[in-house]
Amino acid sequence: MFVIKLISVLVFLAFANAAQVTVNQRVVGGETAIDGSAPYQVSLQGRFGHSCGGALIDKNWVLTAAHCVQGADLSSMSILAGTNDLTKGGVRYYLKQTFMHSRYNKPNFANDVALIKLNSSVTFSDRVKAIDYDYRAVPNGAVIRLTGWGRLSAGGQIPNLLQSINLTYVNHEECQAFFGPNSSVDIGHLCTFNRKGQGACNGDSGSPLVYNNRVVALTNWGVPCATGMPDAHCRVSYYHDWIRTTINSNN
Ligand SMILES: *[C@@H]1O[C@H](CO)[C@@H](O)[C@H](O)[C@H]1NC(C)=O
Ligand SMILES: *[C@@H]1O[C@H](CO)[C@@H](O)[C@H](O)[C@H]1NC(C)=O
Ligand SMILES: *[C@@H]1O[C@H](CO)[C@@H](O)[C@H](O)[C@H]1NC(C)=O
Repeated sequence: MFVIKLISVLVFLAFANAAQVTVNQRVVGGETAIDGSAPYQVSLQGRFGHSCGGALIDKNWVLTAAHCVQGADLSSMSILAGTNDLTKGGVRYYLKQTFMHSRYNKPNFANDVALIKLNSSVTFSDRVKAIDYDYRAVPNGAVIRLTGWGRLSAGGQIPNLLQSINLTYVNHEECQAFFGPNSSVDIGHLCTFNRKGQGACNGDSGSPLVYNNRVVALTNWGVPCATGMPDAHCRVSYYHDWIRTTINSNN
């Protein structure tokens, strides 16, 4: 009961980067990503800089979390691609339209997935590449790579350099058992957990989790940050049809 309440109160503070917070923050307990090792990763930015992550899945499309684009003013947003460093390099692209899942947040914290259509096509290079999104289930025991510019600790700083961490997949039954039957964890979530001191944090929302060179999840929420509980991400295989049909009907 306590855990559930904590989650409902803190979730969105958790993984989207609150613009009013002056100290920015990233992945907890990870390491600085090798330059160019996540060429599909983008930083979604608003007036106050980095707010969320995303994955380039096509020359015109970025996959992210719905809470990253909900109510967003498109004209003040951009994505930065092709750099690990938020302070230099990379190429900036702008948003033409966003598509949130029609049942986002129904019930609370469900269907937290969105697509961003860019207003011009991305030029691919060694540092800018699209990645496939997976239709297959992730096997038990899988080790999944999360990259992001989220805070290094709850209330801590947003790093300039992209962070990377390998996290262990927690299957639906185990994750639901952990949080309880009435929690916000549903079949559209994919959970990960290593141990206390490792996990996602504010600013990691929308960031891709990759397994076997495919995006399998996008960070949604957790109890900030790395407190010894699993993190919940959007399970990409569950939304594969929604992603495919949304792109096909709006290309
Ligand atoms: C894309 O949007 C940006 C920012 O609004 C604008 O400056 C640019 O001209 C647009 N590009 C195209 C191709 O529409
Ligand atoms: C994550 O796992 C991959 C594949 O085993 C390995 O190459 C990489 O060094 C690991 N990264 C981290 C941050 O542990
Ligand atoms: C879950 O919700 C149901 C229906 O509201 C309620 O009867 C039940 O006691 C709740 N279980 C827990 C563990 O909170």
